[in-house]
Amino acid sequence: MGVLLEVKNLTKKFGGLTAVNDFSFEIKRGEFVGLIGPNGAGKTTVFNLISGFEKPSAGTIRFDGMDIVGLKPFRIVNLGVARTFQLVRSFKYLNLLENVSISCLSQRGKTASEDIGTDEYASEILSSVGLVDKARIPPIVLPHGDLRKLQIGKALGTNPQLLLLDEPFSGLSFEEQLVITDLIKKLHDDGVTIFITGHVLRELMTLVPRVIAMHQGKFIADGSPREVANNKIVLEAYLGRGDDFA
Ligand SMILES: Nc1ncnc2c1ncn2[C@@H]1O[C@H](COP(=O)(O)OP(=O)(O)O)[C@@H](O)[C@H]1O
Ligand SMILES: [Mg+2]
Repeated sequence: MGVLLEVKNLTKKFGGLTAVNDFSFEIKRGEFVGLIGPNGAGKTTVFNLISGFEKPSAGTIRFDGMDIVGLKPFRIVNLGVARTFQLVRSFKYLNLLENVSISCLSQRGKTASEDIGTDEYASEILSSVGLVDKARIPPIVLPHGDLRKLQIGKALGTNPQLLLLDEPFSGLSFEEQLVITDLIKKLHDDGVTIFITGHVLRELMTLVPRVIAMHQGKFIADGSPREVANNKIVLEAYLGRGDDFA
């Protein structure tokens, strides 16, 4: 399988703080990879850089062989990269169907919905994330677990090749986490390449076959969850902060 995402020497400085520091990795098409690190490690910044919400101070990002540094977020979406946000975001005065339909108006979303029309396509997506019975209600009345599903639905509307999920389990009950886990597994089975962050390794342990660990902006490990969980530098990074690890 070819490389879908290639990140080399990625660096992002915010004034005197280096949030991402000479960070390099590759993700192959079809992979399912976790990005872990304690709070403040730089995970969200890595996602912001890949999705074009932030511009790197140095380094390169290639998606499907193309240099995407400096492209606007919507252009990166049009190439096939979608992301969700750590804090849920929705159009609160639109219903769920409309929320997803907006993503279907993106270039790849339009191509994918050509045959059946936007409404039908958006409705299929709502069905795949388990929200089709709530298509006509606005997101403000939904419980948090449903809002997380909607985030994923909105990302899917753009028909992504690569889906970046930023802490999709955050704030969810155990039962809600199981539902989202099943949903993400299904998307991966359907062929979407997935890159997912978590600050608690336990959440990703049984979900992904490969984990990249970062700490203070720097790469520290890459391997199976078990290898990474036993990595001395990873353990020190977590223990040093007293964060919940396993
Ligand atoms: N826009 C910003 N301006 C200044 N500092 C930022 C900004 N975004 C992130 N940071 C800092 O960069 C570091 C990494 O943050 P972040 O990428 O959100 O970490 P994580 O997602 O791993 O918790 C933190 O110290 C954070 O405070
Ligand atoms: Mg984060």
